[in-house]
Amino acid sequence: MSKPVILTGIRSNEEPTLGNYLGAFLPIVKMQQEFAGDYQINMFVPDLHSFTTPVDHSSLYQNTLNNLKYFIASGLNINDQDTFIYRQSYIPAHSELTWILDCFTYVGEMSRMTQFKDKSNEHSESVTVGLFNYPVLMAADILLYGAKYVPVGEDQFQHLEITRDIATRFNNKFGDIFTIPDATGDQTKFIKRDSGLRIRSLTDPTKKMSKSNEDPKSKILLSDTPDEAIKKIMSATTDSVGAVNFDWDNQPGITSLLQILAMITGRPRDEVNAQWQGNTMYGEFKKAVAEAVAGFLTDFQARLNAIDDDTLMNKLQASEAAMSEVANATLLKAQVAVGLRPKVN
Ligand code: TYM
Repeated sequence: MSKPVILTGIRSNEEPTLGNYLGAFLPIVKMQQEFAGDYQINMFVPDLHSFTTPVDHSSLYQNTLNNLKYFIASGLNINDQDTFIYRQSYIPAHSELTWILDCFTYVGEMSRMTQFKDKSNEHSESVTVGLFNYPVLMAADILLYGAKYVPVGEDQFQHLEITRDIATRFNNKFGDIFTIPDATGDQTKFIKRDSGLRIRSLTDPTKKMSKSNEDPKSKILLSDTPDEAIKKIMSATTDSVGAVNFDWDNQPGITSLLQILAMITGRPRDEVNAQWQGNTMYGEFKKAVAEAVAGFLTDFQARLNAIDDDTLMNKLQASEAAMSEVANATLLKAQVAVGLRPKVN
């Protein structure tokens, strides 16, 4: 019997941030460590998703390879035989299944996607069909491999829900073609969290930390030097309450820093909150967060620099060959279902 699949993807449109690391890289790496042997891990770069909004195309190919290295620097063990790393565009079944799913997806439901609405406001003069269609490609990414768990940040929950809706609709019409990923609530429990994760912007903690935010002070990049990260955290927006409290409503900046501190050090949230609760020295608190993040970046970047290009390429090519077979088998089932290929008895 094949093993249940845990799958996630990180676009290569911009340098990944600490939000990407905590929201997607770290959870899947932890799952790999915890469940080695029992699950298949698919960690891929959705390179086709990476230019739904404008990018510098001259660096896209290299950024994609860099992202793959970031997986390894995050602790992903690529020697594990149940772990696969790949580039979406190297497995054409992603694009082909997208077209089929497009024809079972309604414009009305797609128009409700908040990420599309937000991004199309930012790029209002040049909103592409690719940006609109992005969740269907994401559904194909997930359904091709029958993924059960898809560790993502909270901003992607709506896309997971639409994946479930499209797959359920397709199965209701054609029989048991796709494995439906677990509901986001169950996925969150599986990774032992009580809610989805949204690491906040350092300059406006009511918003998420986003790699596409043009203000460098709003985000910590995984390529920032430890000194740059320290400066950004020391100047992060907080509040005038004057004492540290874990309180998303009234002190989102401080609360976000508490969350970062707990996650980056791997300490229980309650323990970290109790240590700092009521402390009136914001500078001292920020310094502790800044040093923890700087220490993490130093180790992360040392691991990044130690990655051997040939080892990466060998794993990548072997994974792409193996995952093409899996993806093509699912695609064929869908093609047979809709009448593009003959039924085999
Ligand atoms: P992307 O590339 O924008 O982000 C990669 C992952 O990082 C998470 N993330 C965050 N988590 C917590 N706090 C934040 N501030 C934060 N910012 C980003 C995202 O939720 C995501 O998990 N559509 C996806 C890529 C994708 C994908 C897939 C993911 C394409 N196909 C299939 C899973 C399965 C995206 O744009 O992620």
